[in-house]
This record gives sequence, structure tokens and C-alpha cells, in this order.
Amino acid sequence: MILKSFLYAVTLLWVGAVNAAQYCDPVTSVCYSETKAGDLYVRVAIPMADNGPFDILLQLVAPKQTAGWAAIAWGGKMTKNPITVAWANGNKTVVSSRWANTRTPPVAYPTATYTVLRGSTSNATHWTLTALCSQCATWTADNVKSALNPNDKAAKFAYALSPTPPSQPANNASSITKHTIHATFTVDLAAAKSDKFQEYITSLA
Ligand SMILES: *[C@@H]1O[C@H](CO)[C@@H](O)[C@H](O)[C@H]1NC(C)=O
Ligand SMILES: *[C@@H]1O[C@H](CO)[C@@H](O)[C@H](O)[C@H]1NC(C)=O
Ligand SMILES: *[C@@H]1O[C@H](CO)[C@@H](O)[C@H](O)[C@H]1NC(C)=O
Repeated sequence: MILKSFLYAVTLLWVGAVNAAQYCDPVTSVCYSETKAGDLYVRVAIPMADNGPFDILLQLVAPKQTAGWAAIAWGGKMTKNPITVAWANGNKTVVSSRWANTRTPPVAYPTATYTVLRGSTSNATHWTLTALCSQCATWTADNVKSALNPNDKAAKFAYALSPTPPSQPANNASSITKHTIHATFTVDLAAAKSDKFQEYITSLA
């Protein structure tokens, strides 16, 4: 009985600990630092940098039922940091670069740019975005510069999603409905570093 409770406690701890882990795609062999944020898998790979700016390889995998659109905020806040919004469009995925200064629907943020890569697909149940972001690791708000620390084992991010898809899914500037769920989570950026980063990008282009 005591042993059983002990094992149960250990199992719970273990489940908590593996919330963030490394994930290697069996098809492309690309390895990411992975975090499950609610129903959303957030996967990140970065180069062997010790400070920004650096490009970021991002993969989001979302169930359609919960995520008509999903977003992640790179500074862990709903306002004043780059926001990546993505959704399904037919059998593909659309990414939209956004920013919000106030708690209103985020507007286009042309500073951060994305290259949608191979493995951005949508099927009956899930959509997957695989994209390279330039200018997601550093940003300026109110004249204050912020940067992701690539050695941070628990960088604070935020996510938001809504089951309602955007009104114009083919248009990256489509309006989106207000989120139904939002929360913060952490990403192990140190585990996202890869000396194969450039190879990954080339192989996914
Ligand atoms: C994706 O959809 C397009 C247009 O409907 C279709 O031509 C194409 O074959 C589909 N691709 C896959 C992989 O299902
Ligand atoms: C939409 O895509 C175009 C072309 O890639 C890009 O210039 C524009 O910044 C994007 N807009 C948003 C909101 O992501
Ligand atoms: C749909 O995509 C998801 C995410 O990539 C995958 O886990 C799932 O197996 C796919 N479903 C089918 C039927 O291919």
C-alpha cells in the first residue's frame, strides 16, 4: 500500500517533469524542444546562439476541434510582444504575424516575418504549422528592447486559442474571434539549440 502510494507520487512527478521534452520528427529527423500547452504542441528549434537575434524554427500541432486558430506570444504576454497566429486552410496552414498594444484583437506585425516550411498540413483532425520566424526572438515595445535568452530552460511564453476558425482562412490578415482559452507556459530554449539548425531549415525548405 505504502509502496503503491510512493510509486503513484513518483509517477505524478515524472508526468510533470516531461511536460517539456525533446521531440524528434520521425519523418524529417528534425529535433525540437517540445512543450504541450493545453491541447497545443509547441515545438521550437534554434541555432547555437548565446544571444539574439536568431531565427526560430517553430512547429505547432493543434486539434481542429479546440483550435480554429491558435496563437503563441513570444514574451509570455497578451500585449507588446510578437504573436504568431496560425490556422488551417484546406489541407494547408496559414501563419499570421501579429501584435497587440492593448487587450484588443492583435493587428498585423510586419517586423516579424515567416517562411512556411514543409510539413505544414491539415487533415481531418489536426493542423500543423512548420515555419521559420525571423524577428520573433527580439522585439521593442515602448522603446524597451526585449530578447529571448537562448540559454533559458524555462522561457515564459503564452498561448491562446479559439475553436472558431478565422472568417477568411485563406487570408493571413483575417479577423479572428476572441480567444476562449489563454495561459502561460514555459519553453526549454536551451534544449531547443541545435548545431544542425541550418541543415534543418534547408531540409524543410
Ligand atoms: C490538397 O488540396 C488540394 C486542393 O483541394 C488538392 O488538389 C491536393 O491533392 C490536396 N493534397 C493532399 C496532400 O491531400
Ligand atoms: C501576409 O503575407 C504577406 C506575404 O508573405 C506578408 O507580407 C504579410 O506581412 C503577412 N501578413 C500578416 C498579418 O502576417
Ligand atoms: C493528422 O495530423 C496529426 C498531426 O500531424 C497526426 O497526428 C494524425 O495522425 C493525422 N491523422 C491522419 C488520419 O493522418
